[in-house]
Amino acid sequence: MGKEAASAFGRWFALNDFPVQVALTAVCDLNADVLSWYKSVDTVKLLTTDYKELLADKSVDVVYVALPHNLHKEYYLEVLAAGKDLLAEKPFGIDLESAIAIMETAEKLGRFVRCSSEMPFLPGPQRVIKEVLSGNIGQIIEIKAGFLHSSDLDPTKPINWKRQTKFCGEIGVMGDLGMHVLHVPLRLGWKPHLVYAQLQKIINERPDGKGGMAVCDTWNNATLNTEVLISDQQVPMTLEMKRIAPGETNTWYIEVLGTTGGVKYSTKDTKAFWTFKCEGEQLWQRTDLGFKGVQFPTVTGGIFEPGFADCFMQMLAAYIAEREGLLGDKFGCVTPQEAVDSHYVFNAALKSYASQSLATIGNYQIEMA
Ligand SMILES: NC(=O)c1ccc[n+]([C@@H]2O[C@H](COP(=O)([O-])OP(=O)(O)OC[C@H]3O[C@@H](n4cnc5c(N)ncnc54)[C@H](O)[C@@H]3O)[C@@H](O)[C@H]2O)c1
Repeated sequence: MGKEAASAFGRWFALNDFPVQVALTAVCDLNADVLSWYKSVDTVKLLTTDYKELLADKSVDVVYVALPHNLHKEYYLEVLAAGKDLLAEKPFGIDLESAIAIMETAEKLGRFVRCSSEMPFLPGPQRVIKEVLSGNIGQIIEIKAGFLHSSDLDPTKPINWKRQTKFCGEIGVMGDLGMHVLHVPLRLGWKPHLVYAQLQKIINERPDGKGGMAVCDTWNNATLNTEVLISDQQVPMTLEMKRIAPGETNTWYIEVLGTTGGVKYSTKDTKAFWTFKCEGEQLWQRTDLGFKGVQFPTVTGGIFEPGFADCFMQMLAAYIAEREGLLGDKFGCVTPQEAVDSHYVFNAALKSYASQSLATIGNYQIEMA
């Protein structure tokens, strides 16, 4: 992900009239091969395997930290203590406790901190948000959102840190994909208070890359059947986070159905934005979106398709704009509170699965009639 960030900063000039110049100047990685890749980035002045050297560099204002989840808390806290602002990676700490500690430290030290989740910066999700806020949908009946991968379907894919609980966390796939799924719902105020979780371990061992096999002990797939209160109505919200979803490669989707309308978008069909109307007949209407709907226009023409690199760049632009107080009413990156809220959901999902029952999220109390 460090390379993705470097690539976005490397074409910052593509943003039309963006008010802030940004340059990648320092990089830390323990892996010499990874580090040497950054030699081709002209603006980089410091390449180091010692992150303390990077943090001591007074010219660095913001640090993007893309590390295995077991390292998030320790490194994020050091970045904040060094006086830097932070663009954190999800899941913002390996567990709820870490996420709260990061949020509280950022507040105490007054640092600007946001967490990564780039998919909602595509034009499609932005149109979904507008449609929901327009009121066209009427009373919301149900919400479905998800993020689906399938490369783990291949049992010969070697193990890595993301497939081992001690590095990736007890929450497994929820830590990997869950923040992406919850970003838009949480921003729309749909904070679930109940969850019934179905968690699956499907492939339990993988090649260790040294000729043997290693235990793969993380949750591969999570289906969270949650409930949210919207205008005092109890609304089911299904959240899917799957590493083994046959046929899906980085498919992010959201669907909201209501009494007078509906809206859906999936990255599987990147341009297609769907709205539902019931006017005598029931109609799903497809609108082809181009690049026009991005929040920060670039040199790319309105008819062209946006992709992963574009939404990642849009997310970085939103981070920088918000840090400078220039975001206005545009959509911003995940806040520390939203990241913590996502952990409350994942934490409750673990409890739900362990007890095979409905779990409350946070301080929610079930009222019995
Ligand atoms: N936003 C997204 O779409 C997205 C996608 C993938 C991963 N991620 C997140 O990014 C983070 C990193 O994931 P990744 O896929 O880039 O992992 P990765 O394993 O590809 O990269 C991690 C890098 O960290 C380096 N590293 C490990 N320990 C280090 C240390 N102590 N000091 C310096 N460098 C160290 C490794 O050498 C490696 O190059 C995770 O939090 C992950 O959830 C986000």
